[in-house]
Amino acid sequence: MIFLLGASGYVGSAFRRELAKAWLPHRAISRVDLDYTKFRPLVDALKQYQPDLVILCGGYTGRPTMYNCEGHRTDTILGNVALAQTVAQACDAAGVRLGVVSCGCIFAGAWVQNENGAWVVRENLQTEDLALFLASRSARVRGFADDDTPNATLENGGSFYSGTLAAMEKTLLPFPGTYIWRLNAAFTERDHPRNFLTRMQSSPQLLQRWNSFTHLRDAVTACLQVWNSDLPGGAYNIVNPGYMSTRDLVALIRKHRHPGWDPAFTRDHPEFQEHEPPARRWSALLETRRLDAAGIKMRPLDIALTDAIRNWDGG
Ligand SMILES: NC(=O)c1ccc[n+]([C@@H]2O[C@H](COP(=O)([O-])OP(=O)(O)OC[C@H]3O[C@@H](n4cnc5c(N)ncnc54)[C@H](OP(=O)(O)O)[C@@H]3O)[C@@H](O)[C@H]2O)c1
Repeated sequence: MIFLLGASGYVGSAFRRELAKAWLPHRAISRVDLDYTKFRPLVDALKQYQPDLVILCGGYTGRPTMYNCEGHRTDTILGNVALAQTVAQACDAAGVRLGVVSCGCIFAGAWVQNENGAWVVRENLQTEDLALFLASRSARVRGFADDDTPNATLENGGSFYSGTLAAMEKTLLPFPGTYIWRLNAAFTERDHPRNFLTRMQSSPQLLQRWNSFTHLRDAVTACLQVWNSDLPGGAYNIVNPGYMSTRDLVALIRKHRHPGWDPAFTRDHPEFQEHEPPARRWSALLETRRLDAAGIKMRPLDIALTDAIRNWDGG
């Protein structure tokens, strides 16, 4: 049996649907049912029910967007860092395996091979010299590997949201059997305020960014395969192989859904300027080396995105 914590959220609901579809016995748990933010009630429930796996999809993600975290720092620390640590300690005490959903936003940019052949991290992918490399999917660009050190940390000027998630991953280091499943810019064909495709299509102005993306259903399947295969704990990048830019996505949506869509692009997000120090939000490319090594395949990004756009369900 699986304990699903944070079951009411966007990612939690996707896990819930897929667990139900796969007939996997589970308990979808919200804080109102069981206050899993507190060690004692959680460890008691774990000892009583002895689940095979706990999946933590809960956390403080900020509403309406992650910029909210800049002004709600205590909530963000409690909801991301302290919560994951409490759940990890309870799982450790009860001898239960844990999978924590994290985010690729703990990284900024990508690895780029320079003229001397050395690989360097370029945090900003929007510079002119990289445009051709990225557009041609050059072999001189590669994403962050699962075990790379996060660079969108608080120390490095990351947003408060990404910084606390990077800190959260660090707090899980003493629990080496724990899975960290990093999703990035999640989407499906279902219209939802947290779906990247919804956010993009309802945004008055778009930002040109290069990113990795995660189809939520593909992600749940991959996470469960990691656990079912009893792979070692640690961080797993859970993204659809490939990367795209905002302009690539606009082109896909125009081709398959809205031929006349012509959204405005802005150089930077208006919300960026509201925060001091600036809540920089980068984008990142991620590679799925650990999934690949285990033979766990997610659909290529262009196929997953085309499928979601073609089958768009506006509810
Ligand atoms: N959405 C994305 O595009 C995306 C992409 C990459 C990674 N992720 C990661 O996936 C995880 C879940 O994201 P999500 O989009 O599903 O978030 P969400 O819709 O905001 O849901 C988060 C859930 O966490 C629970 N929760 C626990 N402590 C909380 C607190 N202090 N404040 C608010 N909610 C709290 C709530 O569930 P209950 O009340 O039911 O317990 C809430 O429904 C996060 O770690 C996020 O970084 C999300």
